[in-house]
Amino acid sequence: MRRTIIAGNWKLNGTIQETEDLITALLNGESKNDKATVLVCPPYTSLQLAAKLTSGTHIAVGAQDMSAQEKGAYTAEVSADMLLTVGVTYVILGHSERRQYHGETDRLVNKKAKLALAKGLTPIICVGETIDQREAGDTDKVIGGQIEETISGFTADMIRRSVIAYEPVWAIGTGQTATPEMAQEVHKFIREKVAATDSEAAEALPILYGGSMKPGNADGLLSQPDIDGGLIGGASLKAADFIGIIKAV
Ligand code: PGA
Repeated sequence: MRRTIIAGNWKLNGTIQETEDLITALLNGESKNDKATVLVCPPYTSLQLAAKLTSGTHIAVGAQDMSAQEKGAYTAEVSADMLLTVGVTYVILGHSERRQYHGETDRLVNKKAKLALAKGLTPIICVGETIDQREAGDTDKVIGGQIEETISGFTADMIRRSVIAYEPVWAIGTGQTATPEMAQEVHKFIREKVAATDSEAAEALPILYGGSMKPGNADGLLSQPDIDGGLIGGASLKAADFIGIIKAV
């Protein structure tokens, strides 16, 4: 049985006060579902507080990115060790917004993922095609290439300690969700691609869907055989919506 993970990617949202309010609302609400791991990924400045508020609860904390370097003269970077010391256990890597606005490449994501794993963090490696790529019929080619490069050099054990998120770029923050069948097709393809490295590890790998997931469409998406959870942006900022998705598991 694969783990189901419901992760909130807060992006550039969450002052200290907002972090406290949202996490308190989640803890006071019905955010616990024994079938799912619940994860919140606030901005760096709120990670320590988030970890403190959720310590000993069912909610885990992830970062939205980390440096590919361990330490040194890299202004504004945040290292894996720094994340670990504040109680972070997951890290999102290669989100399409990092790729689009900060030029992150598959190669860089691969380097970060290897470092995260070496340090004991669980990487959530993001892949996804743009609308132009989908319309040109290149979805498999694009996703296949991203998977090959981002998990290049991974052993079976490294796959077992990773999570992948399929986030079609055209569905992120647009309100336009992939249909459950569309998403399932790509998730299945990703699992087959990973199976080329190790089929057992691929079978155990959680593959999350991301892109305008909300309480109203979570059920259909999460009931697909190869969709093992969600990476949720907008709807993770409202406790009621995030809880609605957790309940759909
Ligand atoms: P969204 O974002 O749910 O707001 O579409 C998802 C993501 O980018 O992780």
